[in-house]
Amino acid sequence: MSTARTLLLAGNWKMNLDHLEAISTVQKLAWALRDAKVDLTAVDVVVLPPFTDIRSVQTLVQGDKLWLRYGAQDVSRHEPGAHTGEIAATFLSRLGCTYVVVGHSERRADNHETNDVVAAKVKAALGHDLVPILCVGESLDQREDGTHVEFTLAQLEESLAGLSAEDLTGLVIAYEPVWAIGTGKTATAEDAAEMAAAIRGWLREIYGDSLAESTRILYGGSVKTDNVADILVSDDVDGALVGGASLSGPDFAALCKAAVGQ
Ligand code: PGA
Repeated sequence: MSTARTLLLAGNWKMNLDHLEAISTVQKLAWALRDAKVDLTAVDVVVLPPFTDIRSVQTLVQGDKLWLRYGAQDVSRHEPGAHTGEIAATFLSRLGCTYVVVGHSERRADNHETNDVVAAKVKAALGHDLVPILCVGESLDQREDGTHVEFTLAQLEESLAGLSAEDLTGLVIAYEPVWAIGTGKTATAEDAAEMAAAIRGWLREIYGDSLAESTRILYGGSVKTDNVADILVSDDVDGALVGGASLSGPDFAALCKAAVGQ
C-alpha cells in the first residue's frame, strides 16, 4: 500500500452477531488491538455490524473512547419518509457511523440492486457525510473469459453515474471478485494489484489526479491473517474488506497486526 493513504481494514459482519454479541466482540477487538500494540494512528480499523447492533456499538465506542470506527452494511437511497423497512443515511450519521457499504455483491444478487440503485445509494451516503465503501467485482465466468477488468470498470462507472470528483472526495472502493467471497478462494496478490491499478487508472482518466491519488481501494474476498500482508504489497491496494475473519475480536485484531506489519 502507499504511505500517502491511511490503511483501512473494515470488518463486514454481514448478518452475524446480535447486539449483545456485538458488544463483547468489539470489546475483545479493542483489548486485543491494545495487547498487540497495533498503532491505531496508522490504520483505520472499522466494524460494520447489522443495523440492530449499531446503537450498542456507538455506546461502547463513545463511552470507552475506543479508537475504532463503525458503519453500516447498506443504506436507503431515499430520504426519510414512507419507505417501509428502509434505513436513511441521516439516521446512520446521527448514530455516529463513518462508513457505509454500498453495492455489496450479496445485495446486488439477493436484492436485485442495479448499478442505478447503487449510484443513488452512493449519493445518499455522501449527502449525509457517510463514506461509501462501494463494492465492485466480477463473477467467475467473467474472470475465466478474461473480461474481468472491463466488467468491473463498467460497473464502477455506472455505480458512480452523475457524481463529480468533488462529490466523491473520501470515497472508498472495494474490489471484491464474487468468486472469492466466502469461498476460501482468494485472488492472488497479483490479481488484486492488477484490478486496483486499473481502478486507479480509470479514476485518474475520468476524475483527475487528485481523486485518483486520494481514493482508497480495498481488496475483499477470503482475506485472512495469513494472506493479508501479501494482498497489501501493491501500492494500489490500501486495505481490505474482511467478512468471516472479522467475526472474532481477537482474530480480526491479529489480522490488523499482520496488515500493519508490526
Ligand atoms: P469474506 O467476505 O472475507 O468472508 O470472503 C468478504 C466480503 O464479502 O466483504
